[in-house]
Amino acid sequence: MVRKFASVREASEAAVSIIIAVARKAAADRGFFSLVLAGGTTPGLTYRLLAEPANARQIPWQQCYFFWGDERWLPLSHPDSNFALVHEALLDKVKVPGRNIFPIPTGEGTPGEAAALYEKRLRFFFQNRLPAATRRGNARGDFPTFDLALLGMGPDGHTASLFPGSPLLKEQNKWVVDVPEATGSPPVARITLTLPVFNRAATVLFLVAGPDKLKILETIRARPQEAEERYPAARIRPAGNLVWLAAEKG
Ligand code: 6PG
Repeated sequence: MVRKFASVREASEAAVSIIIAVARKAAADRGFFSLVLAGGTTPGLTYRLLAEPANARQIPWQQCYFFWGDERWLPLSHPDSNFALVHEALLDKVKVPGRNIFPIPTGEGTPGEAAALYEKRLRFFFQNRLPAATRRGNARGDFPTFDLALLGMGPDGHTASLFPGSPLLKEQNKWVVDVPEATGSPPVARITLTLPVFNRAATVLFLVAGPDKLKILETIRARPQEAEERYPAARIRPAGNLVWLAAEKG
């Protein structure tokens, strides 16, 4: 589904309503809500709006678990880290228990080691929350089902840290991988969840803004096969819901 808006504010308000609704339903149905967060600049307003009292009081924070779709290889305290963005705009302002927050551990070892460590933490998280009967299936390398993954898209069609032409687009087994060479903006190594993980999410919510991105979105909709070759974002086709919130102005 694609919903178009005149401004980032309107698109962000729509994102907030969806996040609140999915969080409340997941918490009521299963006792927890798992949210994958996006980096970049566009989602900043969504995070700030979620922290506003009128929205924050509707969210069952104790039952919300926060993960990142990708991270730049920077200390988490660095202002350009995706963790810092969410921390300053949201997590610092609401009552989320620290144990519910799962930053990508950029402070530890090499990017490859950090990716493996994050995958281990994710596996542990999901194994402890699955009904016993399905746990074995999970251990065989199945992918987790996040309740909601928020994603952005770069001007080259990348999403998370999955860039055009990257061999990582072929990953079939790992949940988390590293992009060892300096890539994107800022040009640093990166760590990212993989396509199969995003494609297993119950809901994927893209938040994009500006005419260039809307043009890419049009290509994804009109010529999906061609788009898949050029734009990693076109490969996000979750089994669950896919919602694009697109603001005309950047
Ligand atoms: C990052 C990202 C990245 C981002 C897009 C869109 O670490 O840079 O997570 O995939 O979502 O580049 O970013 P903007 O919203 O800044 O255009």
